[in-house]
Amino acid sequence: MKGPVACAVIPVGGLGTRFLPATKAVPKEMLPVVDKPLIQYAVEEALAAGIERVVIVTGRGKSAIEDHFDHAVELERALADRANGAALAAVRKSVLPPGAIAYTRQQEPRGLGHAVWCARDLVGDQPFAVLLPDDMVLADTPCLAQMLEAYQGVGGNLAAVMDVPREHTARYGVLDVGADDGKLAEVKGLVEKPAPDDAPSTLSIIGRYILQPQIFDKLEAQSAGAGGEIQLTDAMAQLIGEQPFHGFRFAGTRYDCGDKVGFIEATLAYALSRDDLSNATRDVLRKLAPPG
Ligand code: UTP
Repeated sequence: MKGPVACAVIPVGGLGTRFLPATKAVPKEMLPVVDKPLIQYAVEEALAAGIERVVIVTGRGKSAIEDHFDHAVELERALADRANGAALAAVRKSVLPPGAIAYTRQQEPRGLGHAVWCARDLVGDQPFAVLLPDDMVLADTPCLAQMLEAYQGVGGNLAAVMDVPREHTARYGVLDVGADDGKLAEVKGLVEKPAPDDAPSTLSIIGRYILQPQIFDKLEAQSAGAGGEIQLTDAMAQLIGEQPFHGFRFAGTRYDCGDKVGFIEATLAYALSRDDLSNATRDVLRKLAPPG
């Protein structure tokens, strides 16, 4: 169960209610961190890990995403006429080779598990990755590349995990941990959004997964779970015992861009990590929040 992972699913069918009114006419995944939309970070992370095909599960009001990954002929011509090479390169960077990106639509936002299930025919009978664009990981080696390296060793199903404060467990899928070597933790059980007292540990899943195609059969039969949504973790829990399943502690810092404060933090962290912006960003921070 170590087949090559050539395809990544990126679900963007959610409503983005926490960012209204910004997300009324603009998909949440098109909100920029510094100068790039969240979805582009996710696509670039997949490509950097050697993924060849990306499947984006969209929904109503998300067509700007398809335009973003296509040529913008008039804009490109105008930039070429003005000899603005840097802007032209930035515009063209988000155009993938023909056929490398496919879209399917989740007609109703029935949950992450349902969104992934919508991609089943485009993924086919092969292992695949899932990236949630609102979870960003700032790391020397991109998170998915780290996971694929670990996958070469253990195969099966892998979810990126991190320890969270116990009072936050109700925001995550939380692992019941078996054998644990500090990097890979065997998954004995999985609980979606447990109250702090009920959480089997504080090791929690973030938005990066490598899954075997049998997950689609589990999702097919999955009824609504926490929040009335079809949960990916509920279907993953059913693979425990049938297939290898590990939590992978990635190296790097994760930012929850689905949350306002997490988004602000990500914007600052990414700006500070860039040579062209770090000094100016530091100045702004000192001005807005002077030390002491
Ligand atoms: P979130 O729960 O963070 O996104 O889902 P949301 O539902 O859009 O945001 P809020 O909570 O209303 O503010 C994580 C990812 O899963 C996708 C989202 O688009 C996001 O990328 N998702 C969620 C779907 O594709 N379909 C769904 O039914 C739910």
